[in-house]
Amino acid sequence: MSEPISRRDFIKGITALVGGVITTVVGLPTIAYLIDPALRESAKEAWIPVGKLADMPVGMPTPFSFTRVQVNGWERTATSHGGYVIRKSEDPNDLLILNSKCTHLACTVNWSENDQVYLCPCHDAKFNREGQVLDGPPPRPLDRFAEFRVTADGVLEIFYKES
Ligand code: FES
Repeated sequence: MSEPISRRDFIKGITALVGGVITTVVGLPTIAYLIDPALRESAKEAWIPVGKLADMPVGMPTPFSFTRVQVNGWERTATSHGGYVIRKSEDPNDLLILNSKCTHLACTVNWSENDQVYLCPCHDAKFNREGQVLDGPPPRPLDRFAEFRVTADGVLEIFYKES
């Protein structure tokens, strides 16, 4: 025959049980949170929507921007990207899509409607509408987003690949 449990042992048992439940409820999500970034693969490439083609006037550089988040272990880094869409005609495939990152030291260039050039604020470089270097230290024209598509509802998407 078993001995009756003392009041002290009963309270000890209940305390251990409640402690175990609390540890599980609080501990598992914490452990999952800590481990999760190490297990998650960040997207290295993606189709990025940059706007409705109908909102982009022919012949005028239309700016766009987007942000990508890189996950490296527990470190998350958000990086801004951008560029300009130049519609050369009404043809939805007749596009030039420039990366606004200067090819010198990666400052962001801005289109100047007055001067009809992209200006780099860092070292005064100038690029023409097609991204060719007109002046300054950049070693090559502005880079292009060469792959793009227009969805059925008229949204222009560019293909982004992490370099
Ligand atoms: S970073 Fe653009 S000219 Fe130097």
